[in-house]
Amino acid sequence: MKTADLLTADKLRGGFYSPPGLVEACLDRVGALTRGRTGLRVLEPAAGDGAFIRGLATHELASRVAHVTAVEPNAGEAGKCDSALVTAGFPGLVIAKSMLNGARPLLDRYDVAVGNPPFVRFQFLTMEDRQGAAEVARESGVALGGVSNLWIPVFLSTLIRLVPGGVFAFIVPAECFTGISARSVRTWLTRYVDDLRVDLFPPGSFPTVLQEVVVLSGQVTGSRSPDMAPALKVVEHTGAGPVSWVHQLDESTTTWTRYLLTPAQLSTLHEITSLPGFYRFSDVARLTVSTVTGANEYFSVDDRTLSKFGLEAWALPLLARIRHAAGVVFNDQDHEALSGTEFARWLLSFGPEQLDPESSALCSQYLRDGERQGLHRRYKCRIRMPWYRVPVVRPGRLLLSKRSHRYPRLVLNEARVVTTDTIYQGGMTAAFTNQDRDLVAGFHNTVTLLTAEMEGRSFGGGVLELVPTEIGRLTVPMIPGLGASLIDLDTHVRTAGADSESLIEKTDALLARAVPALTADALHDLRAARTSLLQRRMDRTG
Ligand SMILES: C[S@@+](CC[C@H](N)C(=O)[O-])C[C@H]1O[C@@H](n2cnc3c(N)ncnc32)[C@H](O)[C@@H]1O
Repeated sequence: MKTADLLTADKLRGGFYSPPGLVEACLDRVGALTRGRTGLRVLEPAAGDGAFIRGLATHELASRVAHVTAVEPNAGEAGKCDSALVTAGFPGLVIAKSMLNGARPLLDRYDVAVGNPPFVRFQFLTMEDRQGAAEVARESGVALGGVSNLWIPVFLSTLIRLVPGGVFAFIVPAECFTGISARSVRTWLTRYVDDLRVDLFPPGSFPTVLQEVVVLSGQVTGSRSPDMAPALKVVEHTGAGPVSWVHQLDESTTTWTRYLLTPAQLSTLHEITSLPGFYRFSDVARLTVSTVTGANEYFSVDDRTLSKFGLEAWALPLLARIRHAAGVVFNDQDHEALSGTEFARWLLSFGPEQLDPESSALCSQYLRDGERQGLHRRYKCRIRMPWYRVPVVRPGRLLLSKRSHRYPRLVLNEARVVTTDTIYQGGMTAAFTNQDRDLVAGFHNTVTLLTAEMEGRSFGGGVLELVPTEIGRLTVPMIPGLGASLIDLDTHVRTAGADSESLIEKTDALLARAVPALTADALHDLRAARTSLLQRRMDRTG
């Protein structure tokens, strides 16, 4: 993670401006939602140099705008925005303050809000803005919760300033659909917005936009009767024209990734996951976070370090990275094959029942080395006595990486290796004790991996991250006897390469034979669904 001094000033304030095409997409939507209305009071909460004001000036909406309030804390950019306002000829003002503190008392209520809120990690925010964000959470009635990003409170503080019937159209990061802290935004939209719509654009549509963005728009509800379910219209802009579908929203749904699928795809998925033989992962197995060392590079060592410091007495066999496992089974030979490489394959465990590490001159030297690096002062280390006594989690039969590229790979741990916090470990539930081979053999199928795309979250570079609760929500097949094919599948992955799509095809074929209701047509639809989510994730570069 970059620290503030390594980031450019522009990145620190989220200073990436919107291309005219995206501004127009927002304004067209506002135009349609406010049809017939005049005297519109407009708010632009993070105005930059005024891209939206320039866009408004030439849009059909211009004649219906009565007043524009623009907020931009950067003085230089606020000045440019002011010039844009004067050139456009709209009555209005530019407030050169933060939307989260200085500007708040100066704001009114508005008929329209448009913009592109700043994408800046919370860690880079001033204390005043953080306090302002907490205030916004209180005012909007949704918990901001945990780590967050500036775009969320800026967006929410704008939405709550719209009058009933007020309209908005914003360019927001695609993480709006999946991010944990963006759940506050999703909750607010579900509760208070009608005509909610998201516009998706093909990757690369706006070359200057670094992050995958979507246009989110709607109308703040006056008062919605409790029996009226909120709906989300998804419009996908493709080369062949727009394609759209509608989903009823459910506030309890943790992420909105599922709404990127068409209702037909979702209903096929629902049909298949309701078949006998399909279970929630948490019903058949449990995975948990493994050993937290506080300094993985130090406590995980390769053969060279092991022998240099005579650490053999304190070494447990380790799988440090899932990519060090070539197949879907990790056995003693696989662990042995890592010998002599630079890959760490041992975890140091200085448990109380073991030989005192200070009794060995070489081992003591290794410990002093760690202290020279200041590791004993790291939070996780300094709360232990002594700092190097890592509470090692016993090896589990099942291993799954926290982060994956194309898909998460479930590995059967025959070598009984331990793992650190980059690979979860666990085992089967009591009801399925002896079916671990069936589970691993069936795991890499289209249905399960589609649910992984829906439950997980994606980060920069398209990485998919799953935390244990999300893994628990995956749908997995449990077909007695499927484990007989495990060795065949394992051999296949080792030649085809980890991350190969052919493992999925082979597993699908096995499943289709065992579950006749999983028809070729259903599999075809679900493959298309998974590919569309996977592609979106891979295209995410922000
Ligand atoms: C992504 S840019 C968008 C600018 C403009 N709306 C556009 O679409 O081109 C986000 C803007 O938010 C501004 N900003 C940063 N922190 C802010 C805050 N606390 N309140 C309001 N605006 C902020 C940045 O200076 C930047 O100009």
